[in-house]
Amino acid sequence: MSGDLTGRTIVLTGASAGIGAVAARELAARGATVVPIGRSPEKTAAVAAEIGVEPLVADFASLAQVRELADRLLARCPAIDVLVHNAGGIVPDRRVTEDGFELTLQSNYLAPFLLQSLLHERLSASRARTVVTSSMLHRVARISLQDLDFSRRRYSSLQAYGQAKLAEVLFVEELARRTPDTGITAVAFHPGTVGSGFGRDSGGGIALLYRTRLGRTFLLGPERGAEPLVHLAADPGEVNGSYYHRMRPAATSRQGRDADLARRLWQTTEELLGAEPHPGVR
Ligand SMILES: NC(=O)c1ccc[n+]([C@@H]2O[C@H](COP(=O)([O-])OP(=O)(O)OC[C@H]3O[C@@H](n4cnc5c(N)ncnc54)[C@H](OP(=O)(O)O)[C@@H]3O)[C@@H](O)[C@H]2O)c1
Repeated sequence: MSGDLTGRTIVLTGASAGIGAVAARELAARGATVVPIGRSPEKTAAVAAEIGVEPLVADFASLAQVRELADRLLARCPAIDVLVHNAGGIVPDRRVTEDGFELTLQSNYLAPFLLQSLLHERLSASRARTVVTSSMLHRVARISLQDLDFSRRRYSSLQAYGQAKLAEVLFVEELARRTPDTGITAVAFHPGTVGSGFGRDSGGGIALLYRTRLGRTFLLGPERGAEPLVHLAADPGEVNGSYYHRMRPAATSRQGRDADLARRLWQTTEELLGAEPHPGVR
């Protein structure tokens, strides 16, 4: 792992708990200016106080809050060297946000996509790296561009989560294709199966693994879970467009490496969000 990060600004979502909280402390300890973002004001403030910075709070179930967050980031950060999209998780049943989207899709994928869009010019000027905490569960899912929010398919929390994490892999693939125009590089990773707050409300197999004493013996601690995030945020090496399974590059699913699907998903997402196309990109 690389050492001194003095002078680098790292914006980190999901920094209030689990993998993100450990990573925030570790990156700050290496000298980076970490901007910790969380949903819970109390938890985010506690992590921010530990590293001596001001917290930022936004609930990704509200796109209005994502827009406010972007405004605050632009006011606070003259440059952003690394943007880590780490916030996310699985929810036990189908919920619809105030914006009309299925919650898993919005909190794991649509909100980060919007944040990336709103910060685009600052990220491009900084030749930033985007790091995305995806999941190996992207392999269990298939994307349906016609039904991203499971209003027509039978809802399964695992499928909705897997699809959102697959969308993140495709987001990285498309960001990397645009690097020659934008200067922004991107990488996605699976952190391992980590005993954090993940799956806290879930039932079924997720609950058996994450919530029982026996299941938790199979889990990594959040310190181990944060290792790939810290490595990919800190290391200047060539990782653009890669998917990492913990510390090593790995293959994604068939849909995860479908460049045409990545393009079409990007376009569909812009339409859903009513977002301006990124300037200066094909
Ligand atoms: N744990 C695993 O086994 C595992 C495996 C693969 C991938 N992942 C991914 O790793 C990332 C970090 O999860 P974790 O394991 O560290 O779980 P965690 O302890 O539950 O942390 C999740 C983080 O995301 C934030 N978050 C969740 N929903 C949000 C929302 N609607 N708006 C804003 N922030 C939100 C949480 O904020 P608050 O705490 O402030 O609510 C928290 O900071 C997630 O993207 C997860 O999908 C985890």
